[in-house]
Parts: sequence; structure tokens; C-alpha cells
Amino acid sequence: MNILVTGGAGYIGSHTCVELLNAGYDIVVVDNLDNSNIKAVETVKRITGKDFPFYEYDLLDREKLEEVFADNKIDAVIHFAGLKAVGESTQIPLRYYHNNITGSLILMELMEKYDVNNIVFSSSATVYGMPKTVPITEDFPLSTTNPYGSTKLMIEQIMTDVSKANPKLSVTLLRYFNPIGAHKSGDLGEDPKGIPNNLLPYVAQVAVGKLEKVHVFGNDYPTADGTGVRDYIHVVDLALGHLKAIEHCSGKAGVHIYNLGTGNGYSVLQIIDAFSKACGKELPYQIDPRRPGDIAECYADATKAKNELDWVATRGIAEMCEDSWRWQSNHPNGFDD
Ligand code: NAD
Ligand code: UD1
Repeated sequence: MNILVTGGAGYIGSHTCVELLNAGYDIVVVDNLDNSNIKAVETVKRITGKDFPFYEYDLLDREKLEEVFADNKIDAVIHFAGLKAVGESTQIPLRYYHNNITGSLILMELMEKYDVNNIVFSSSATVYGMPKTVPITEDFPLSTTNPYGSTKLMIEQIMTDVSKANPKLSVTLLRYFNPIGAHKSGDLGEDPKGIPNNLLPYVAQVAVGKLEKVHVFGNDYPTADGTGVRDYIHVVDLALGHLKAIEHCSGKAGVHIYNLGTGNGYSVLQIIDAFSKACGKELPYQIDPRRPGDIAECYADATKAKNELDWVATRGIAEMCEDSWRWQSNHPNGFDD
């Protein structure tokens, strides 16, 4: 089976490419390297000992993207490519809507033209907006609080409409919770540009001495220690969820929706503590005001993925932090080291 991976040079995409290649799939990768590094692609090839076509193309360039479909017989698409920074999406919403939505439209038009009928899409727990209760099941009400989240919800809707019109199309919407961790080799991991927005890469950069201390956004939430609780999931478990989705949903027409999370919530202070243990030193932090738009608690009910995809996340928080630390300490400046 030959799988087109859009955004395959990125954090989750590159880890998924490793697992796809290890499982014997053929892959073709398209990425414009807007938020990634060619070294990630080279590392995937080195770690797996396998070669594959890589196209440094933008999904918005229809003619170039069509070359990929014309040159390769594609059986399924895993669609990671997109812009993902929540704060930035509020400042440059048009770029987010254009890149994420138009890119997905062009991709789906070419899939239709070349009779490719399986797609797995990277959605996000952000489509649950401000959930009233936890854990979150797939049938919770959907809403968004920022343009990034709106692009995810709109693409879900577009894919659902296209599937209704095409009785052969299989659409799988995977709603990720908070991916962290890195490949065991310590040579593939998250390499954010500039100062990280998300907790884990920030903590990792404090641990390696690039940032002074962790800023904890609020300790007055109604949680056990007052800090925000999230469902952190190892990126390799997440990658393996894509293989299960391809295995179980390909060829099954309709829309299939799954939460990919562990079902466990950890607070900011628990994460700082787990990372301190992984790196062997105390990490300095200070309590700051809440970050606007943040919710107290968010974690998945991942029972549906377990029952239908035979998928569960097996890697715990200690392993997530150890693997993040191996990558961060081997590569303090990411792929540019
Ligand atoms: P990432 O930025 O590391 O990877 C996305 C990749 O897409 C990058 O390599 C980027 O260069 C590429 N890309 C963006 N626009 C493109 C375009 N027009 N044409 C070609 N390539 C393009 O992000 P990630 O963390 O690996 O996330 C992958 C997907 O999962 C994204 O769609 C993201 O929104 C979604 N997601 C991520 C998280 C998370 O916390 N990382 C959570 C939920 C959902
Ligand atoms: C963020 C995105 C969300 C996306 C998710 C997964 C925002 C507002 N939301 O969610 O849309 O789906 O990532 O990629 O960006 N925290 C600190 N200090 C920091 C950073 C974070 O205390 O420097 C806290 C936050 O308040 C939160 C937790 O750590 O309680 C996790 O934050 P983060 O890693 O940014 O993820 P989310 O807010 O869950």
C-alpha cells in the first residue's frame, strides 16, 4: 500500500513515517518545509534504512501537487500539513484559513481526480472548544475559540460533505490530544521555531539551559493542584494510531471519528516534576496569571479507538519525558545542531 503523507517532515508526520516504513508501507512525502527541516526527512530515512520520494512542494501549488499524484499510484493519504500555532492564528487568520482550508480543498480535488478514496486527517481536541465535562467522548458538542481551531472544524465538515457525495470515500478524523515525546533514537523530535508556545518544548528548553524558568499559567484552576490538566500522549503512540486507522478504515466508506489520547490527565506541576526526574535536575518555575482562552481540564475518553481500532496508548508520562529529554539534550538547537 502506497501512502501519501502531507506534512511528513513535521513533528507528528515524521514519527508516523518511521512507523509506516517499519510496518512495510510505501510512502511518498510532500512538505513545503514551512515549519520543518529537511534533516527530519533525512533522519527518517536513516533510522528506517528505507528510501522514499520527497517533494518539497506547497499544497497550495495545484500543478506541483498534481505531479505527485501523476507520478505515484497513491492508495491513501494521511494529511498532516497545516499551520498549527493558536496565538499566531489570531494575528494572521487569513493565512491560516487559506493555507489549511485551501490546501485541503486542492488535496481532496486531486484525490477525486485520481480516484484516491482513503484519507486520514489530523484534527485536534481543540474542536471540543470549552468542554463542560471530562473525559471527552467523540459525540461531545463541537465549537472553537480561535481561527486555528476553526480551520480544523471546517475541514472536518468539508470532508464529511465530500464523503456524503462520494460513496467510495473513507474519511478518518483523528482528534489528537497533546502529543509530546520523541523517537527512541534521540535523533527525531519536536523542533519548534522561536520560543515554544506549548508546555513540553518550553520545559525541555529550560532543562537544557536555553530558557531561564517555566512560566506556569495559573494555579487557581479547580484542579488538584490548581494548574491546568491535559492528556499528554507519546508521539509514537499517536503515530501508531494512524497505522491502526489506515488498517481498519481503508476501504470502509463513510466518516470515522476517533479521539487519540491516553485518557489520563496530568497537571502542569506534575509535568515539571516528571521532566525534572527525567533530566535529573530541579527545574525552576514561577506562577504567572492564566493564559487567556485556556481551560482547566482536558482529557480524552479513548474507548472508541480501543474498541474499533484496537489501539491504546501504552507509553506513560515518565517515558514521554525521558524521550523528550534524550532528543533535547542530544540536539539543544533541534535539527540545526
Ligand atoms: P508541524 O508544524 O511540525 O507539521 C506540519 C507540517 O506541515 C510542517 O512540516 C509544515 O512545513 C507542513 N506544511 C504546512 N503547510 C503546508 C503546505 N501548505 N504545504 C505543504 N506542507 C505544509 O506540526 P505537527 O505538530 O506535526 O502537526 C501535524 C498536524 O497535526 C497539523 O495539522 C496540526 O494542526 C495537527 N495537530 C497537532 C497537534 C500538536 O500539538 N502538535 C495537536 C492536534 C493536531
Ligand atoms: C494547545 C492549543 C490547542 C492544541 C494543543 C495541542 C493553545 C491555547 N491551545 O493546547 O489548540 O490543540 O495545544 O497542540 O495554544 N502552560 C504553561 N506554561 C507554558 C505553556 C503552557 O503553564 O509555557 C500550560 C497551559 O496553561 C496548559 C498546559 O500547560 O494548562 C498545556 O499547554 P499547551 O502545551 O500550550 O497545550 P494546550 O493549551 O492544551
